[in-house]
Formats: sequence, C-alpha cells, structure tokens
Amino acid sequence: MRIDKLLATIGYGSRKEVKKMLKTGAVLADGVVIKDAKTHVDPENQMVTVNGEQVEYREFIYLMMNKPPGVLSATEDIAQHTVIDLLTPEDAVREPFPVGRLDKDTEGLLVITNDGQLSHQLLSPKKHVPKTYYAVISGEVTESDISAFKIGVTLDDEYVTKPARLIILKSGETSEIELTITEGKFHQVKRMFEAVGKKVTYLKRLTMGDLELDEDLEPGEYRDLTDEEVEILRNSKPADFI
Ligand code: URA
Repeated sequence: MRIDKLLATIGYGSRKEVKKMLKTGAVLADGVVIKDAKTHVDPENQMVTVNGEQVEYREFIYLMMNKPPGVLSATEDIAQHTVIDLLTPEDAVREPFPVGRLDKDTEGLLVITNDGQLSHQLLSPKKHVPKTYYAVISGEVTESDISAFKIGVTLDDEYVTKPARLIILKSGETSEIELTITEGKFHQVKRMFEAVGKKVTYLKRLTMGDLELDEDLEPGEYRDLTDEEVEILRNSKPADFI
C-alpha cells in the first residue's frame, strides 16, 4: 500500500497533508526515512513510525455502539443525523457501515465495521444469527404470546415469522419482555407485537449473535471491539430454537 494512502487512512490528515509531513522526514519504515508519497510499504510486516511513534494499521475496524434514539442506522442522509456522524474523523475515514438496521427510535447494540464479509455472514438469513431485544409493551403479554411467537406469527404483509423466543419479564397493563429473533424484517419486533394486538413503546437491542452490548456505553457512545469480541461475533452460533 502507498505510504500516503496508509497514513491518510489511519487519520494522519489528507493525502496533501501527509505528503507535506513526509517531506519533513518524520516518517520511517524499518528505520529508513520515506519522503516519497508513492513509496509502497507493507504495514503488516514493516515497522512504520511517525515522529518515532509506531503506526498501528489494521485492515478492518470493528466498533460497538450503543445507538441512541433519533439517529439513522445509515452511512449518510441528506437531512438527518446518522450513526456515522457520531464517529470520530479517524474512525469515519475508514468508511465503516452499520451491520443491519435499527429503527430511528430503537436503541442499543449496533456493530459498525468495514468488514463486508463479516457483515454478510451476520445478516445472512441462512445463518439464523440470533438477536435479542428488550422491549416495553403497551398491553398484557401472556403465555399465549410465547406460544404464538414460538410457532410464528403472520405479519401485516402475510409473512409468517420464523420461531422466536419470548421471555416475559413483567406482565401487566404495561409489560416488559425479551425477544430473540433470527431474522431482520423491516420493523420486525414492532410488527410481531402488532400481530398479537400489542404495541412496542420502547425497543433496545441487547445482543447480536453471541456478542452482548457493553452496558457501560451511554447512548451515543461507542468503542472498538476487543479481538476476543470480534472472534465471539465471528463464531456466533445459530439460535438453538430454530
Ligand atoms: N425490530 C423493530 O421493530 N425495530 C428495530 O429497530 C429492530 C427490530
């Protein structure tokens, strides 16, 4: 990879700014000064330093965000804020995208990456990757809803949902539940409750595959996934009830 591309990608400025920096002699590869922006380096096998500080380059970035309500899970929008607008310029420059969509008013776990292969794997309907949501429901959620969701309910477009696991945390005029689904149909959780005559008034995603939301992240905050968490995500097992 060209040295100017590498440093610009990591966040050392625009290509023009990096070119200027190279001229000052601040950049070394394996101890040799690089002044020509066209020089190719292999960041995985060469030690690249800027002002004596080692440059850490990874091909992909993996972020966990606690998505706040009121922003779109999209990369860009002409009128509204997106989750990418919440990233630092250093992260945004790597061109990551959200893995799947949460509604504008939904909160919780959103994985953001530029690893298209992992994203595809997590979203593929064939993989049955489970996603668990916490929701507040207007209406009394009962055992019969557990049975209905286990078999599958018919949505407003006649689609019959795959088996899902419903756990009732609190039942009453207002109920609290956890629902695990393996699909990602448009407004799926909200439409599943509509199918049984109830309304979701608050929705938060807690898990994706075997990865859990870090509850220390305030809404709108995000952090890098650890290497271990990336592996957990990559090796997520299909839901055991499908
Ligand atoms: N189901 C919904 O209805 N909305 C979401 O954001 C995610 C799942």
